[in-house]
Amino acid sequence: MNLIFLGPPGAGKGTQAKRVSEKYGIPQISTGDMLREAVAKGTELGKKAKEYMDKGELVPDEVVIGIVKERLQQPDCEKGFILDGFPRTLAQAEALDEMLKELNKKIDAVINVVVPEEEVVKRITYRRTCRNCGAVYHLIYAPPKEDNKCDKCGGELYQRDDDKEETVRERYRVYKQNTEPLIDYYRKKGILYDVDGTKDIEGVWKEIEAILEKIK
Ligand code: AP5
Ligand code: ZN
Repeated sequence: MNLIFLGPPGAGKGTQAKRVSEKYGIPQISTGDMLREAVAKGTELGKKAKEYMDKGELVPDEVVIGIVKERLQQPDCEKGFILDGFPRTLAQAEALDEMLKELNKKIDAVINVVVPEEEVVKRITYRRTCRNCGAVYHLIYAPPKEDNKCDKCGGELYQRDDDKEETVRERYRVYKQNTEPLIDYYRKKGILYDVDGTKDIEGVWKEIEAILEKIK
């Protein structure tokens, strides 16, 4: 099963993609996570990407396209993959079509997680991420058992540099302008599935699971 998760920042794409990955045994490919890893390692790519990420802007298409192209050729993508946070522009969507043609693959479903701006801001400003394993929490909706400590690995929880309210609003604006047009792009291809992302984590998961059971 080859899937794309589409939706504004903080819609819950990562949270749900992780569940899909665990249930169906296919890798979650998050361009945001890959870029943050490069930033943490201080690589050339990371240094370049950080400038854009901290402002809430998109990293240039050619950079992100290169990363995804390399990742999709890894053997663990053979049985399927979940693209989380990619594509985000029309140019990225077209580049993905090209890549998939070369690899003789196709996207089975695009899960569009719909959440309004105010809810997005509430979700992101209370988000905490594990510095060690990347697990994601929410101080109100999905709190860790112990303050500031990851349930899974005991790692320290931190707030992402781009999760300040002002940057979140900019990311939402960038989403509206560059990414929202992809909804139509995939709807026309007949592979788009809208999901009500305002439900609780379990409720959203039930909707997604039902879609995936139908198409698998
Ligand atoms: P990226 O890391 O992709 O961030 P994003 O798209 O803004 O998405 P988020 O990770 O913020 O949110 P999410 O939808 O995964 O929500 P989550 O599950 O965490 O990108 C960051 C930056 O990298 C970009 O700004 C850009 O600079 C760069 N970048 C990345 N990809 C790029 C690309 N393709 N091209 C160019 N640049 C790129 O949930 C959010 C919170 O809500 C959590 O606390 C969670 O616990 C909670 N939550 C989740 N679901 C629910 C629910 N149903 N109810 C209540 N709370 C919930
Ligand atoms: Zn952890």
